[in-house]
Amino acid sequence: MRRRLARVDEIPQKGLRFTCREGPFDEEGILLRLPGGTVRAYKNLCRHLPVRLDERDPGTLWDPQGRHLVCAAHGARYLPADGLCVSGPCEGSHLRELPVTVEDGIVWLDEGVLGAFFA
Ligand code: FES
Repeated sequence: MRRRLARVDEIPQKGLRFTCREGPFDEEGILLRLPGGTVRAYKNLCRHLPVRLDERDPGTLWDPQGRHLVCAAHGARYLPADGLCVSGPCEGSHLRELPVTVEDGIVWLDEGVLGAFFA
């Protein structure tokens, strides 16, 4: 099962948050449009400790320059292009990528891959 998230041209520069279900858990995702129009989606979950990147500073996902996604807890910095942590306590790890595809300008989330189920 897949779910429509947004049109590619609707994704704001700072990304679009969405919720998804993985198994029994509701999770938050971040949908990004990279330069050139490539789309990526990651779980809003740090790889150092299992907290949202903006757990300590709600709404803040980016460094002031807008180049890296940043965890407000201990400062891990992630590249938007591939989710690689380039500095911080989990350097070398990656944000968990969520399965999205683009078809005719529409971004779809493949919830079947996530093991989502609905009552
Ligand atoms: S919990 Fe994110 S850097 Fe520590």
